[in-house]
Amino acid sequence: MKIAFLDSGVGGLTVLNSFVDDSKKAFDSEPISEITYLADLANLPYGGKSQEELKLILLNNLQWLQSRADSVVLACNTSSAILDSEIERQFPNVKIYGLIQAFAKDLALNHKNLKKLVVLSTRATHNSGAYINMLKQSRPDLEVQSVPCPEWVPLIEDNLSKGYEPLQELAEESVKKIINQIEIEADALVFGCTHYPLLKGAIKKLLPKVLLLDPADSIRKELSEFVFSPTQTSITTYSSSNEEVLKDKLKSLDKILLCAKYCQNKVKAAQIIGAKA
Ligand code: DGL
Repeated sequence: MKIAFLDSGVGGLTVLNSFVDDSKKAFDSEPISEITYLADLANLPYGGKSQEELKLILLNNLQWLQSRADSVVLACNTSSAILDSEIERQFPNVKIYGLIQAFAKDLALNHKNLKKLVVLSTRATHNSGAYINMLKQSRPDLEVQSVPCPEWVPLIEDNLSKGYEPLQELAEESVKKIINQIEIEADALVFGCTHYPLLKGAIKKLLPKVLLLDPADSIRKELSEFVFSPTQTSITTYSSSNEEVLKDKLKSLDKILLCAKYCQNKVKAAQIIGAKA
């Protein structure tokens, strides 16, 4: 069994981390042999791109990943927002997991008490309406406000090297601006972008009581048949741009995410068609 995780940058590592650091994993199952993590740094950030551009990028990435994995986790909400049956049909031998799809399912099953939800996401995810549409189907009773946070991905990617605490301090003003846009009395905020858990400290500081929901937890439940073993599963991390940049980012995340340590063992550059490396 081989599985891949895909994101524009390091955000998807928060999804990989939730998978690697899963205390509920079935220890009696056979561990997976290989994990491929693709950071599409050549196209970072996805959030300001059009649906057409994003579709092309996703197709190119899936094309590249299909010989390396039986299953691909879109550890990226912006890509999950454009995943459709037409894309899936082009990769009949790959099972593709979408984050928003997993979250909508999970919410209907496990969070029946929630009434009002704020989804924080990239501009592209917000514009796609994917969260609102999918949640309307799984939880028609839910009130949802979608708030785009276009500053956050560049802020995170550019300032990781400062360390987690300085990043939270730096983000505070921007987080305040977003909080001011919230119009409903939300029971919970959703990290509608996989980079945003890296700002958890700043968000918690300003909204200490609100429940924070991470779709990474939802996808982890869908991946329960896959088991990670620190000794038997090999992780290769690829950058569609310069691999040295990815190495530095992984080093910065070392103290924040357990998986960053494993990801540093093998870091390579990926030649992906269409990527302007
Ligand atoms: N981390 C991604 C997401 O979950 C994409 C962020 C970006 O490149 O704008 O949407």
